[in-house]
Amino acid sequence: MVALLQVQNLSVGLPFSAPLLDAISFDIAESERVGLVGASGCGKSLTAGTLCGLLRTPLRVLAGSIRLDGTSLTDASPATWRAARGRSVFQIFQSPGTALTPVRRVGTQLAEAAQIAGRDTKAAVSQALDAVALQPDVTGLFPYQLSGGMKQRVLIAMALILRPRLLIADEPTTGLDVLTEHDILTALNTAADETGASVLFISHDLRAVRRIATRTLVMHAGRLVEDADIADLAISKAPAARALATAATALQNPC
Ligand SMILES: Nc1ncnc2c1ncn2[C@@H]1O[C@H](COP(=O)(O)OP(=O)(O)OP(=O)(O)O)[C@@H](O)[C@H]1O
Ligand SMILES: [Mg+2]
Repeated sequence: MVALLQVQNLSVGLPFSAPLLDAISFDIAESERVGLVGASGCGKSLTAGTLCGLLRTPLRVLAGSIRLDGTSLTDASPATWRAARGRSVFQIFQSPGTALTPVRRVGTQLAEAAQIAGRDTKAAVSQALDAVALQPDVTGLFPYQLSGGMKQRVLIAMALILRPRLLIADEPTTGLDVLTEHDILTALNTAADETGASVLFISHDLRAVRRIATRTLVMHAGRLVEDADIADLAISKAPAARALATAATALQNPC
């Protein structure tokens, strides 16, 4: 299979300190869905931010390379990253509020995405809202008038309109109830089915990962320690992977 994303020996951190991401390497194939899991603080969001060109000074790439869709993005300028974000790589964040402009109506923001994608605005927006089970009148609202689950669905609708090559979802269901979580994960799979996007699904919850992906990357203290089928994490050589599998089993069988 053709690798859409190639990450090789990527280290990220502050100059003159121990790296926060330490020589991580992995590929994601076209249309492949991969989970990324690990304990809090292990480097999942930093990985996502790096793959979207969102590192803020003084954090920087210390070594290694990122290739997306045949293009090297390792030393890309802010302008190149701005052009790549949205259509090449699209991120759904842990807190969706930060990704939506607070003072502009949802409809305006979705229409802008349609213009960027060169699509018929009305049709694209209405199809995308339908696919994520949002009512058309949501377009008249401002982000602060939406619940957390609705904001995540607006972002998934935006991904449906933009049709990115790589969709990164960083804990998109954190803080949401289980029914809303179910809807968001369904919408995410719909978006991947409809656009053919590859997905990097980040979570600390193996139950949620299982809904999206089978192949699972495990991080521990800034390193990638496992790349395996989710069913094999329990017998992994990596203690961090086994610990996650054990914790997930314990949560499923609380008594
Ligand atoms: N801007 C920054 N400056 C310095 N250190 C940072 C910065 N952003 C993240 N870090 C550090 O990088 C490490 C990884 O953070 P990251 O946010 O990627 O964790 P995470 O795996 O996403 O955790 P969580 O599951 O809690 O979201 C942490 O030690 C964190 O303190
Ligand atoms: Mg995080």
